[in-house]
Amino acid sequence: MLKIAVLVSGGGSNLQSIIDDINSGALNCTIEYVISDRIGAYGIERAKKAGIKTIELDRKELKSDLSNTILGLVKGKVDLIVLAGYLSIISGDILKEFKNRIINIHPSLIPSFCGQGMYGIKVHEAVLEYGCKIAGCTVHLVDEGTDTGAIIIQKVVEVKEDDSSEVLQKRVLEQEHKALPEAISYFADEKITIEGRQIKIKK
Ligand code: GRF
Repeated sequence: MLKIAVLVSGGGSNLQSIIDDINSGALNCTIEYVISDRIGAYGIERAKKAGIKTIELDRKELKSDLSNTILGLVKGKVDLIVLAGYLSIISGDILKEFKNRIINIHPSLIPSFCGQGMYGIKVHEAVLEYGCKIAGCTVHLVDEGTDTGAIIIQKVVEVKEDDSSEVLQKRVLEQEHKALPEAISYFADEKITIEGRQIKIKK
C-alpha cells in the first residue's frame, strides 16, 4: 500500500480531506507522518486526533537545513510526499531522492497566478483584480522551481460577479479537497505515466 508523508504549514484542511477519504475507504494509502515547518500548525492537531505520527519543525531555526531534515525523516519510509498547504520551498537532495514523488496543491489554474509570493488569499485577490471568469486549483509535481512542475490534475470553478476573495477562496478550497486525494489515488493505484511535462492517467 502507498505510504505518504504530508507536509503542512497551517490549518490542514487539505490534510483533513486525505484523512477523511482514507477513513471512508475512498483512498487506498497510509499517512506515515505529518510534518509541519512551524510549531503549532493546526494541521498537527488534526493529525494527532487521527492517531498519525507528527513532527513539528521550526523553519526559522532550521533555515536552509529544513528540506534536508525532512529528507532524513522520510527517506526509505514513504513512497510519496504531499505538500498540503505547505509554504516553505522544497530544495536540495530531497528533489533528487524523491524525483516525481513530491506533489503540491496550489489554489489557482497554473501557470496563472502562481510562483514566488503567490499563496493563500493573495491568489484569489489577484484573480478578482484581473477580472477572470473562471478560477480553480492545480495539483502538480514539485521540481526545482516554484509551482513549475508538471500538472497532474486541475479543477475549475466559476468566478461570480459579486465574489469577495474569501468567498472565491472557499469555493476553490472545496475543489482542492477533491483534487488532492484524487491525485494521490493515481499514485496509489499506479495509474500515472510521466513523459516530460505530459502526465497521463490510465483510466
Ligand atoms: C490552500 O488554499 C492550499 O491551496 C494552499 O494553502 C491553503 C491552506 O491549505 N497551498 P490547508 O487548509 O492548510 O490545507
